[in-house]
Amino acid sequence: MRIIKTKTYEEMSAIAAGIIGGQVLLKPNCVLGLATGSSPIGAYKDLVKSYEDGILDFSEVRTVNLDEYCGLDDTNPNSYRYFMNHNFFDHINIDKYRTYVPNGLATDWKTECDNYDKLIRALGGIDLQLLGIGFNGHIGFNEPSDHFELETRRVALTESTMKANSRFFPNGGMPTHALTMGFKSILSAKKILLIAGPEKFDIVQKALKGPVTPEVPASILQLHDNVSVVYTADRDI
Ligand code: F6R
Repeated sequence: MRIIKTKTYEEMSAIAAGIIGGQVLLKPNCVLGLATGSSPIGAYKDLVKSYEDGILDFSEVRTVNLDEYCGLDDTNPNSYRYFMNHNFFDHINIDKYRTYVPNGLATDWKTECDNYDKLIRALGGIDLQLLGIGFNGHIGFNEPSDHFELETRRVALTESTMKANSRFFPNGGMPTHALTMGFKSILSAKKILLIAGPEKFDIVQKALKGPVTPEVPASILQLHDNVSVVYTADRDI
């Protein structure tokens, strides 16, 4: 595991964008696993800049996102599809048909989730998976549990996650459920990149240095053989 400490969000974002950009340069038709939330916005901005500067070409890249809220369509600014279009896809030369986000409107969510795992396999697996981490150690919306959930599935959000994400829903309407990639697809990624801001220091430390337990879902990353962690803090993990 490579663990990189940075002083600022900007530095963390630049390093993350460098790792993702490097993947695209090495394999122009790579499959990127992507995340939403506050943590990756800076990295997406830097990747857009590299595209504008003519350094990166996304025309052959395929992407799969980790998760989506149930009940929000792609025109809803709080949906993760909207987030990805707005923060990244609309600003680079990627064909949206090659970008996949679970369909939060699916009524037959079981089929939607099964098909999402099949899709990832059909794409040849994920080359590089970008992850953020929740205060409770979740990755994607894999919340603390008594076992590691393997499949993509519909989950009820925990109180802690709803509290953390309610900042995006000042007028209410925070969804109670989401579709999330499970650990099988996440861990089958050839490389994993976890990014975390200073507010996540304690949980990152617990996940990387504590026991591997489904009560801290991100701790499972200790079992993957190609993980890079880029975090912002003034002390070492
Ligand atoms: C989002 C996702 C979540 C976030 C996590 C951290 O697609 O999968 O696990 O990465 O909740 O969110 P931020 O970056 O907003 O602190």
